[in-house]
Formats: sequence, C-alpha cells, structure tokens
Amino acid sequence: MNVDVYDNPEELAQAAAREFAARAAEAIGERGRFAVVLAGGSTPRATYEVLARDYADTIAWEEVHVFFGDERGVPPDDDDSNYKMARGSLLDHVPVGSVHRMRGELPPDEAAEAYEQELHDFFGPVDLPKFDLILLGTGPDGHTASLFPETSALEIHDRWVVANPVLKLETTRITLTLPAINAARAVYFLVAGEGKAAPVAEILEGDPDPRRYPASLIRPEHGPTWMLDQAAASGLS
Ligand code: 6PG
Repeated sequence: MNVDVYDNPEELAQAAAREFAARAAEAIGERGRFAVVLAGGSTPRATYEVLARDYADTIAWEEVHVFFGDERGVPPDDDDSNYKMARGSLLDHVPVGSVHRMRGELPPDEAAEAYEQELHDFFGPVDLPKFDLILLGTGPDGHTASLFPETSALEIHDRWVVANPVLKLETTRITLTLPAINAARAVYFLVAGEGKAAPVAEILEGDPDPRRYPASLIRPEHGPTWMLDQAAASGLS
C-alpha cells in the first residue's frame, strides 16, 4: 500500500496525470496498448482536464483503450453519467483508440452482462481482465467504484461486472467486481476533501470491517496507491 499526500487537489491532479502518462508509456512500450479504467464521481475530473490540456501531444492516445469502473443507471447524456463527465473533461479532446462505456440506459443486469462480454472480447480467453491501470475514488462511506457497504456485489467472485442494488440510493449501479479490480497491474485511488478523512484513516490505519469499508478490499498484487490531498489525509497519524 503506497500513500502519497499532496498539498491541494490541483497538485493531486497534476501528479495523477503524470502517473497516468508514465503507466501509459510503460504499457504501450511493453504490450503495444494501454487498457485503463476511469473513475467516476467528481474528484478525477481535474486529472482528466490536466491530461486533455497538458498531455494531448505526449501520450500515444491511439493506443489507449478506455473502460469504466462503474456507472449509474442513467443514459450517456445525463448529468449523473460517469461517461458524460469523462467525455466532457477528456475523451472529447484526445483521439483515444477505443472507449468502452457501461450502458447505464439498459436494464442493469443486461448492461452488466453486455459489459462483461465486451471485456472478454477485448482481453480474450483469460481468467481475469488485466487492466494496466485502474483509477478509483472512495466515498464518505468507504465505497469504491459502485461497491457499496453491505451490498451483494461484495460477495461475488465469479463475475467481472455485476449489477449491484444499492438500497440507500434506491438504485442499482453497474460495477466491476473485486476480482476484476484486484487483477489489475496498478490501482490508484484519487481522494480529495475533508469528507473523506475518516474513511481514509480507518482504511489505511484502522482495522476496517471490509463489508463496511469496501475500499479496504482493493488489494491488487502491487499496491494500491492512495493519492490524497492534505484534507483527505488529515485523519492520518
Ligand atoms: C461513482 C464513483 C464512486 C466515486 C466516489 C467518490 O460513480 O460515484 O465511481 O465510486 O469514486 O463516490 O466520488 P467523488 O469523487 O465525487 O467524491
């Protein structure tokens, strides 16, 4: 577990963009392509904007294949759509090789099955997808992607993508599963704001109950790396 703390959200975004570019160059150099999972929510938007503004000419975007960690049950032009956020802040500005969005407009189970098939088509006959980089966030309740506390998706180990009913939000989200995330070559949490200090402290320094802090279940072979701003790190000793 690596923990890097930055003075403010802007410096966090700059550092995350640097890491993205470094991982892209490494993957494209070694394997000819970069398969990356974008995080949703609001925190990663600043990183995507830095990538679009400062890395348009320095990343081989045509070799970059974009996926999503989770999606809300909304169409792609809805303001709540993670795809819409990523498109407006990055994907409309760089010529990526391919974009694989989760179809939030479909019935959730259908959308999850379709996305799982899309991952199988991209990664071929493998036990688990091996993304080069997965970006994640965490919520004040310790959820990550759409793996929320006390939800059924936390117990699923034989799927790559599932529909996850989240009672407290009265909705069903589409999300990558723990095995699919933990098989990645690299996982980076981008976390900013005081509202995240308590779950971050519990996950990084406490003895978190995994069903109550799903982000603590993210344990890839290498890492994860937690990139925090000072406010999010304020609960750490
Ligand atoms: C989502 C995200 C979710 C997000 C956290 C943090 O669809 O909401 O994938 O897991 O990363 O909720 O969100 P913020 O960055 O907006 O605080």
